[in-house]
Amino acid sequence: IRPDATSVARYMAEYIIARVNKFGPTSERPFVLGLPTGSSPIGVYRILVEYFKKGLISFKHIVTFNMDEYVGLPKDHPESYHSFMWNHLFKHVDIDPNNVNILDGNCDDLELRCLKFEQKILAVGGIELFLGGIGPDGHIAFNEPGSSLQSRTRVKTLAYETILANARFFGGDITKVPKLALTVGVATVMDAREVAIIITGQHKALALAKCIEEGVNHMWTVSAIQLHPRSLIVCDEDATLEL
Ligand code: GLP
Repeated sequence: IRPDATSVARYMAEYIIARVNKFGPTSERPFVLGLPTGSSPIGVYRILVEYFKKGLISFKHIVTFNMDEYVGLPKDHPESYHSFMWNHLFKHVDIDPNNVNILDGNCDDLELRCLKFEQKILAVGGIELFLGGIGPDGHIAFNEPGSSLQSRTRVKTLAYETILANARFFGGDITKVPKLALTVGVATVMDAREVAIIITGQHKALALAKCIEEGVNHMWTVSAIQLHPRSLIVCDEDATLEL
């Protein structure tokens, strides 16, 4: 627990850098990093860029997999998760664009794309560290309440609460928010060798309590991390109000 969102971001960014540098990635043995979007990781990405500029981390041998993407938004739409990731992180660091994996919500065969995404994760040896945020309803990636804890990368209909919460990025107009997304499954996240979650703000307090003080429950999908041997939650004081 850190006092505020800024210190949460710094803690998480420094944690990632320490893990990457200790691992010592090479081209034969890249560090495979799972990444989220949303407002929660923005501070983490800002600090990663800051440390990259100081020469304290390189992304040359990091392979990334993003958690999710909207269906039907062009890649270059300002609110696509492609744009988000390039604007907040990738364009500022030395990552090889071939090492960036983001689901394509505009292809003909979405299901096949999801299957290939899972296969690619396996092909690079699995995800070493999956960074995540959560929705106020406790969803991880776009694994909305009721998602199977065994779920894999797939097409998902967004919950009304999520559409409402994300409308702020679409000028407050819920009709502009895509209703479908591609998302890694709960099991995809849980397969990572380590899972690290950022939870900040009073609006996430109930979700944090459900996640760690109640049973593993598919209605609060992030609660699955209780079963993970190596998981970390970094939260601010505001998010602890219901504990
Ligand atoms: C979306 C994303 C999630 C993210 C959540 C919370 O639903 N698919 O990965 O955790 O938003 O976003 P924020 O951090 O903006 O609260």
